[in-house]
Amino acid sequence: ILVTAAGTEEPLDPVRYLGNRSTGRMGFAVAAEAARRGAQVVLIAGPTHLVTPAGVRRVDVRSARDMYAAVCAAYDGVDAVIKAAAVADYRPVETAAHKIKKSDGELTLALTRNPDILYELGQKKRHQILVGFAAETQNVADYARGKLATKNLDFIVANNVAEKDAGFGVSTNHVQIFYADGRAEDHPLMPKAKLAGVILDRVEAILKQRTVT
Ligand code: CTP
Repeated sequence: ILVTAAGTEEPLDPVRYLGNRSTGRMGFAVAAEAARRGAQVVLIAGPTHLVTPAGVRRVDVRSARDMYAAVCAAYDGVDAVIKAAAVADYRPVETAAHKIKKSDGELTLALTRNPDILYELGQKKRHQILVGFAAETQNVADYARGKLATKNLDFIVANNVAEKDAGFGVSTNHVQIFYADGRAEDHPLMPKAKLAGVILDRVEAILKQRTVT
């Protein structure tokens, strides 16, 4: 099982970066639970202070492009990808070699697109089960269903990150799960550790169904 977690950091200069509020708790919880269930787990993590779960092989990355390279290197050998990382969609066009000094007036940053890692995995999907997350602040179902289809996912776990007890930096989450066949599930607020089990139950169910058919 390949799990990605935490946010990426996109360097501006040697001391600054563009980042986001993801702490990595959701992805680390999934990696820990998958290892507890006996899976071989590779956890590709952006910068975070979290401790590596027992039995998990961890690869640390910083930027979205680093994460893309690490994910591609592991992709062929995995049965499922659970992509909990909050990946920066843009990076500065240039990373200054030296600290950017302030001057009077405004500073404008030019940004360029990062690869959409999950979209690329969806394009070259063979046997892999692909699970995405959707971090939204409005129109959760519409946006999540759009990402499910565009990225060729098996299911997507959608959360409204504007809710106090869901999303970034808290130990609970409140999600809906949308499936490629059109089904949707509402889940109550629960600890991320429990949600990790819910997600892995569904991955296991798809794997078992494939073994039977
Ligand atoms: N994702 C990714 N690579 C990116 C952006 C997102 O792999 N460059 C993955 C995330 O890990 C997540 C899913 O795509 O599993 C959805 O991420 P999200 O940030 O909710 O959406 P985006 O696709 O970035 O779309 P938008 O920012 O427009 O909402």
